[in-house]
Amino acid sequence: MSTLAGPEPAALAPPSPARGGDDRTAFLREFLRDPFTVAAVTPSGRPLADLVTATVPHDGAPLVVELGPGTGAFTAAVQRRLAGRGRHLAVEINARFAARLAARYPGVDVEVADARGLRGVLARRGHGRADVIVSGLPWAAFAPDRQDDLLDAVTGGLAPHGAFTTFAYTHTRWAPPARRLRRALRSRFEEVVLSRTVWANLPPAFVYYCRRPRTPAQAAAGGPPPVEPAA
Ligand SMILES: C[S@@+](CC[C@H](N)C(=O)[O-])C[C@H]1O[C@@H](n2cnc3c(N)ncnc32)[C@H](O)[C@@H]1O
Repeated sequence: MSTLAGPEPAALAPPSPARGGDDRTAFLREFLRDPFTVAAVTPSGRPLADLVTATVPHDGAPLVVELGPGTGAFTAAVQRRLAGRGRHLAVEINARFAARLAARYPGVDVEVADARGLRGVLARRGHGRADVIVSGLPWAAFAPDRQDDLLDAVTGGLAPHGAFTTFAYTHTRWAPPARRLRRALRSRFEEVVLSRTVWANLPPAFVYYCRRPRTPAQAAAGGPPPVEPAA
């Protein structure tokens, strides 16, 4: 991947009003085309992006994988943190989003693919497992078997020392798909920590920080994940 040096490139600067508006228009257009895959009407804001990408280390040369980048709200934050180090692979199922992203961020390796195929994407590039995976995937819109397949892809593609972050909207926090996701995360990771609510995001959201992925055998031996208290 190319490196980014010198003054902050325009692509990494906070979006100008014109570019932000352009992203919002593109996002809404893609939502109207495929609401169950995009599953949000507007891109995430910078405060949420900064929290989601806080696991990207400020030193070394990590391999960072981003799932579901959309118009690049988290992409810009990852690139800011990497500042030219490491590698950044973005996996996006929507070819139009992917083309915009590749044009705007030449330092990011963008692949049009279903994130369920993450292991294959990594293998084709000769990469090992990722040090950090950040996800913009709309978990609450996914059926249980799709959630499971995607989480298997995440744990299969993450290094044992790695960190996985993803976000959820606060208003869906107690909905069945969100509760199911939480149980699934706790069965697949030894540590799952929830952030504060980011009220500045539209809609408000929070982040899951997941570390120490369990192998499938460990997850099975660990028994059922803890039952959650009702809302
Ligand atoms: C809620 S949007 C989030 C976009 C961006 N990360 C943000 O926060 O503004 C969900 C994104 O995930 C992508 N997506 C949905 N299912 C996917 C899958 N199976 N594999 C890869 N990308 C997927 C959608 O196309 C969309 O770009």
